[in-house]
Amino acid sequence: MRDKMNNVQIGVDYYPEHWDESMWEADISLMKETGVKVVRVGEFAWSRLEPAEAVYDFAWLDRSLDLMARYGLQVVIGTPTATPPRWLTTAYPDVLPVFADGRTFHPGVRHHRCYNSRSLRLFGARITAELARRYAGHPAVIGWQTDNEFGMLDCHCDACNEAFRAWVRAKYDSLAALNAAWGTVVWSGEYGTWEELTVPYGGSPHQNPSLLLDYQRFQWDAVVSFQQEQIDLIRQYCPEHFITHNFHSYPQRLDQYAVGAALDVASFDYYPNTSPLKQETTPYSGALSLDVTRGIKRRNFWIMEQLSGSPGCWMPMWRTPHPGMIRAYVWQAIARGADTVVHFRWRSAVAGAEQFWHGLIDHSNVPGRRFAEFAGLCGEVNELSERLKGSVLQHEVAILHSHEQKVALDIQPQAEGFDYYENIKLVHRSLTKLGIGCDVIHAGEPLDGYKLVIAPSLYVLDEPLAAQLEAFAAAGGTLLLTPRTGVKNPDNLCVMSPLPGLLSRAAGVTVAEYDPVGRETHALVDGEGRTYACSQWCDLLTPDTAEPVAWYGDDFFAGIPAVTANRFGAGQVYYFGTFAEESYWTALLARLAGEQELQRFAGLPDGVQATVRRGPGGRFLFLLNLNRVTQTVTLPAGYRRALGGGEVPAGELALAPFGVEILELPE
Ligand code: GLA
Ligand code: ZN
Repeated sequence: MRDKMNNVQIGVDYYPEHWDESMWEADISLMKETGVKVVRVGEFAWSRLEPAEAVYDFAWLDRSLDLMARYGLQVVIGTPTATPPRWLTTAYPDVLPVFADGRTFHPGVRHHRCYNSRSLRLFGARITAELARRYAGHPAVIGWQTDNEFGMLDCHCDACNEAFRAWVRAKYDSLAALNAAWGTVVWSGEYGTWEELTVPYGGSPHQNPSLLLDYQRFQWDAVVSFQQEQIDLIRQYCPEHFITHNFHSYPQRLDQYAVGAALDVASFDYYPNTSPLKQETTPYSGALSLDVTRGIKRRNFWIMEQLSGSPGCWMPMWRTPHPGMIRAYVWQAIARGADTVVHFRWRSAVAGAEQFWHGLIDHSNVPGRRFAEFAGLCGEVNELSERLKGSVLQHEVAILHSHEQKVALDIQPQAEGFDYYENIKLVHRSLTKLGIGCDVIHAGEPLDGYKLVIAPSLYVLDEPLAAQLEAFAAAGGTLLLTPRTGVKNPDNLCVMSPLPGLLSRAAGVTVAEYDPVGRETHALVDGEGRTYACSQWCDLLTPDTAEPVAWYGDDFFAGIPAVTANRFGAGQVYYFGTFAEESYWTALLARLAGEQELQRFAGLPDGVQATVRRGPGGRFLFLLNLNRVTQTVTLPAGYRRALGGGEVPAGELALAPFGVEILELPE
């Protein structure tokens, strides 16, 4: 039954507890009629499932799931632990997180729970076990979502202090080792007893960066072990069901790879910005989010919440999705490896904090324009479902991503405007516009099959990762490195060797001096004399075995190498000493694509994206115009339309605003 997670299909998020029971059957029969296949329920319903301590009421959920089963819908149940009920937080206030200044995170709407709280662990495990036991054999249930949108809380409660102390002790063993690793001698921060060690309470605006990085790692482990307790119970009672978690809003401080490791499939909550003012960036940042999600488990994924109407409440409302936008962004998700796409939510809430985060159906309960678009989409997805099943994306380019880097760089911002994830966005956007598919994977993952690996700012670098990247290049790969590589060791201490530290040999270059130029724009001149803008950072490079390929064009470093390329074994290593504007990346990546014969769909106009899914049912080229104007692409002969069938003549193919073409390639 775990195989059901591989179906290509559409779902909805539904909250039976929010609606009068007399409405359920009409809702569920309309879901069925519309072509919906999956419903997610239950996350947040703790107070209805366990109205008082150890008093359970599953009757209502039984009745709604039975109805769903009767209509042939499949169900994913979310564990409700993101919303501890009042009886729990009142009788066991240790559930509530504590801010650095000692204030309590009181129940507001949700997420008022400390991952290390003993009471949360105890009662969270109990409700999870009760649910798993009860629904293990229910005919509608196919899988589980742990909690909802894990995030970092930076809790400072007693339980966190105790757990942090134990974590640090287990890692360093002795106070002497801890003091050395964190360099606490600086400014008399040495610990003389374990009791002196606490989570960072704040107050003082600055803290030891080694402490802060370990505090993050500690929290990652706390989320992982909190989740693992639920996973163990679900696996025990429901060995046939799959388990997922819904990640959201990248970049996250949460280590998605650590949380994802124990899951069967990763999920993402996808709310592309509806504003036309963001039109130039939204399709590309969305593409990156989807690629990041596919990278969590290096396999296809789910969207657990998908844009359905005007988002609001957490901010003033955004524009309503333009006609075609709901459909096009679902196809974008599928084009990048989503199998099931679940829409948030069936109907907009009439109560609670989120009344204006619109669902597919408005408060009026009259299905309108957006619902009609959704219904059409369900039909299309169902038409292709069987043939898309088992199809995957295969790429020759990878971007390495790491929460360690993001967190360490956030702890010590390097220069104005220097943003780890924004720098990844720029490279990813450039590749996407060039029509070069890429994977975004966790730094340290195996690199087999890749020709080109881009490793932005490996600021905290350990020997195994450096050795792996050296070996990749030596074996014939092309490796691209950027500023702030090899700066720190895993304890977050600066290394005492020329940068890029452990990768200097492979890069064949060292950084003689650097200048954190921040938001200033400087000039970069390539070998053909073309000038580009660069900013954030300028490493002044001294090539050793490397050849310069671009130089600075201004300031006191005019004429000094800014980008170098080094032959290394059978491969090559590029070192970028600065962050160049997108057109420089585009020129360089296009050249590399030519040299290395990278698979590519060339000639994409603005906002149009192309990806390929291959599988037992065929090879499918997805062409998506995520734009409000008509765009044209040029196609060779031989393509057939997957939807509806029919040959596509060679030559120009027009894509309407938010137009989607799914074309079958001959084998
Ligand atoms: C998140 C949550 C949902 C809902 C949406 C909209 O993705 O998981 O419960 O709140 O945001 O805000
Ligand atoms: Zn806590």
